[in-house]
Amino acid sequence: MKKIKNICCLGAGYVGGPTMSVIALKCPDINVTVVDLNKDRIDLWNSEDLDQLPVYEPGLDEVVKIARGRNLFFSTDVEKAIASAEMIFIAVNTPTKTYGEGKGMAADLKFVELCARQIADVAITDKIIVEKSTLPVRTADILQTILDSNGNGVNFEVLSNPEFLAEGTAINDLLNADRVLIGGKQNSSGLEAIESLVNIYSNWLSPEQIITTNLWSSELSKLTANAFLAQRISSINALSELCEATEADIDEVAYAIGTDSRIGPKFLKASVGFGGSCFQKDVLNLVYLCRHFNLPEVANYWEQIILMNDHQKHRFAKNIITTLFNTVNGKKIGFLGWAFKKDTNDTRESAAIYVADHLINDGAEIHVFDPKVSENKIKEDLKQLWKLKGLDVEEINRKINQIKVYNNHKMAVHKSHAIAVLTEWDEFVNYDWDTIYKNMYKPAFIFDGRNILNNEKLTNIGFKVRSIGK
Ligand code: NAD
Ligand code: UGA
Repeated sequence: MKKIKNICCLGAGYVGGPTMSVIALKCPDINVTVVDLNKDRIDLWNSEDLDQLPVYEPGLDEVVKIARGRNLFFSTDVEKAIASAEMIFIAVNTPTKTYGEGKGMAADLKFVELCARQIADVAITDKIIVEKSTLPVRTADILQTILDSNGNGVNFEVLSNPEFLAEGTAINDLLNADRVLIGGKQNSSGLEAIESLVNIYSNWLSPEQIITTNLWSSELSKLTANAFLAQRISSINALSELCEATEADIDEVAYAIGTDSRIGPKFLKASVGFGGSCFQKDVLNLVYLCRHFNLPEVANYWEQIILMNDHQKHRFAKNIITTLFNTVNGKKIGFLGWAFKKDTNDTRESAAIYVADHLINDGAEIHVFDPKVSENKIKEDLKQLWKLKGLDVEEINRKINQIKVYNNHKMAVHKSHAIAVLTEWDEFVNYDWDTIYKNMYKPAFIFDGRNILNNEKLTNIGFKVRSIGK
């Protein structure tokens, strides 16, 4: 078995940064170099002030503080890092295609393909290539074909090692993983490569936490895991609408069903809709694959998760408009939260973006506060959505004036007609709601898209509270 002394990771994003930091922390004898084409991102990973790291994750700064400069390095020198590594992780982005064949459904593999070509160009010694990005089943075939065109007589072993961390809890998820999954070819060189990677994780995980499979099971298990998780949220969100029509309470229903050990209590929190860079992209990718293999019933089954999620975001926004007497034109709506979940600065596919767009179309003024998301990011998110929708520059510039961003919550909700909670940040619960109420137009509405606020307390203050599924 090959002893790994140097690891390179292509992609210093939400996955590459934290996963490699933890590997470096737990494997002090291995040099880990994380490279990215984006120089600004690498500069931030190298910044002295750990508050400037490009990824906000509780506990990440501590890990980086220990390992960076010791055996953890961030660099833009991709070729050098590839050349000296025995094992190369590919952790680049695999977004939904926005053009051509499979537009809006398939995963765009152009960044992954570029990685394979870069590796093939540079490598002069044998390498183990690890798919860390989430990929359609059978992508390893594509990678192997590109790598084998290298021509230098180099042997490449491709492994699949999908990442299951969730943002906001990434460090804990990595240190105490439910499992890591490693797929590889079931021949002698494939099994040897699997063992090399098992050895790395064995530095902090037990054998029971490390599952090994063939390549295709591993690739498909990642898409499946995300589809099952997303399905639970869409299921509970579908029921939240029925609760609103029947006076059942979705939190009580979730508790009642979650105590059945076969169902379990996790991932049953009704919300304004799931966001994040992966659930939608991965479910759409699964749907695309099913259609590709001519399995329309299977494709339609999984697609319903996304349709339900779109419906949930849409009906939350619509409910704000109808409750505010059928128009929000010229009204100020305070948004608490913009990130797609608490404890992250990531906003990709956040429900807040779509709810804001809907309300802006009805003429609302949106005033946002998020503890970790910058004004620039919030405006960029909307501009990007409007560009995708085909709006011209003039219209985008006009609409962007309807959004204001503050660095404290008081300004965002001052003299507002309604408040909408879009992210479940803990601090929102303990705000001085009496004072907030005094400074709002009456009737003062709160739309709690995360069911985190104390309904009874707020109602006693005088608020008109609208929750999800109640
Ligand atoms: P990201 O966009 O945060 O980071 C990807 C990085 O790769 C970017 O910084 C980009 O500049 C860089 N990159 C692109 N092409 C490159 C190249 N050729 N060489 C070097 N760098 C390159 O994406 P992410 O959230 O880290 O996700 C990466 C992959 O991991 C995706 O496939 C995603 O589905 C999967 N994943 C993400 C999460 C998550 O929580 N974000 C969890 C599990 C799996
Ligand atoms: C998710 C998975 O949980 C990870 O296992 C996976 O590795 C990752 O996707 C990925 O492949 O990218 P993440 O998207 O970071 O992780 O965060 P989640 O905790 O899964 O939350 C996703 C969205 O669902 C958030 O908007 C969250 O608010 C929402 N959610 C989650 C609910 O609305 N209700 C719940 O009960 C749980």
